[in-house]
This record gives sequence, structure tokens and C-alpha cells, in this order.
Amino acid sequence: MNIILLGPPGAGKGTQSSLLVQHHGMRQLSTGDMLRAAVAAQTPIGVKAKAIMDAGQLVSDEIVSALIDAELAAMEPTTGAIFDGYPRTAAQADALDAILARHGRQLDMVIELAVDEDELVRRITGRFSCANCGEGYHDTSKQPAVAETCDRCGAHEFKRRPDDNEGTVRKRMQIYREETAPILPGYEQRGIVNRLDGMAPIEQVTAAIEALLATA
Ligand code: AP5
Repeated sequence: MNIILLGPPGAGKGTQSSLLVQHHGMRQLSTGDMLRAAVAAQTPIGVKAKAIMDAGQLVSDEIVSALIDAELAAMEPTTGAIFDGYPRTAAQADALDAILARHGRQLDMVIELAVDEDELVRRITGRFSCANCGEGYHDTSKQPAVAETCDRCGAHEFKRRPDDNEGTVRKRMQIYREETAPILPGYEQRGIVNRLDGMAPIEQVTAAIEALLATA
């Protein structure tokens, strides 16, 4: 299956993608993660993207679509893809259709995670992750089982994203409303959008996604 997880910053796209990877062997294609890796490696794309990301603005459509194209080209055709944070603009949505067709794939489902704005700010400003494996945590809603030890890999170092401050988060939400939400009607016309309550606890959101996949 090829699925888009759509929702504003902090809606839980990364959290749910990572669970789908664990449960179904699908591949998470997060343009945010790809760009952060490019920034860390100081590649030409990373150098260009850093200031844009830190300001909560969007990196160019051409760059992110090329990243997705390259990832899909390297994947086994039978491995399902979860698009996390892509597409984010009308141009990216069009590019994804062309990329999928080129790789002999089709878009099966768009899952929209709906969450109130104040809850999004709470989630993002409390978010941190393992510096070694990237497993995501939250100051109050998802702490490691053993203090300061990653549940997944046992590492003891954690980090926070530079764009996870309230000012940048509000900017990212504005961009979501202006640039990303308008791509939903196009997918609704195709009859492939499922809207889930992203305010529910993580396990309940996962169960709702599993129920959708079971009927697909
Ligand atoms: P990106 O990394 O994609 O960030 P985002 O879309 O802003 O989304 P987040 O990663 O912040 O949130 P999420 O929905 O994954 O939530 P999470 O699961 O972590 O993009 C960053 C930047 O890169 C962009 O601003 C842009 O500059 C650039 N970029 C990326 N893609 C681009 C593109 N396609 N085009 C152009 N530019 C692009 O959850 C958040 C927290 O909440 C966690 O702590 C989690 O534990 C907790 N949580 C999750 N679910 C729940 C729940 N149900 N209940 C309680 N807590 C929960």
C-alpha cells in the first residue's frame, strides 16, 4: 500500500508512521527526516535548507520531490510506502502522482490526523528524540520507560529540534493552513481520504489506522 499521513505539525504523523513500519514492514518516507539528515551531513541541499527549516518555511518543491523520487527508486516495488510530511503543496501533490506512476505505484489512502492548535503547540514544545536511533518521546505523554534511556536502542543521549519553539510552530501551522490543507479536496474527490481524531491517545489513533488498513 501507498499511504499519505497528512496533518499539521505535531499531529502524530511521525509517531504513527514509525508504528506502521514496526507492524507492517512498510517504509516511512519523511521529507522532514531526509532534510534534517542533509542538514546534519552539511550536503548542498542541507546547507540550503537549514535556515528555511529553522524559520518554519517550506523547502522548495523541486528539492523535496527529488528526495522522494530517489527513495522510491531504491525501494523494492512490493514494499509499502508511508508519506510523512509530503506532499505539502499543490505542486508536490501533482509531483507525487507523476512519481508514483513512474514507479508503477498508486496512492491507496490519505489519512488526515486532526488536532487542535493549542494541543499541537503543547506536543511540539515537549517533544524530544533519541540522539542515536531517532525514537520520539514527549516530556509528559511519552517518556522513556527507564529514565534517560531510549526504549528502542538503550542510548542515553537525547535531542530537541531547533524548530520546535512556539514561534516557529505557529508559523508552520499557518503554512499548513495556507499551503497544505488546500490539497485535501483533490484527494477527497478521489474518495481516498479518511479523517481521524488525532486528539485521541497514541494507541487509539494506531488502532483506528489499523482498522482502516484492515478494510482497505
Ligand atoms: P517535518 O519534520 O515534516 O515536521 P512537521 O510536519 O512540522 O511535523 P512534525 O514532525 O513536527 O510532527 P508530526 O506530525 O510528525 O508529530 P510527531 O509524531 O512527531 O518538517 C520540518 C520542516 O522541514 C518543515 O517546517 C519544512 O521546513 C521542511 N519540510 C519537510 N517536509 C517538507 C516538504 N514536503 N516540503 C517543504 N518543506 C518541507 O508528534 C509530536 C509529539 O506529540 C511527539 O512528542 C509525540 O510523542 C506526541 N504525540 C503524537 N501523537 C500523540 C497523541 N495522539 N497524543 C499525545 N501525544 C502525541
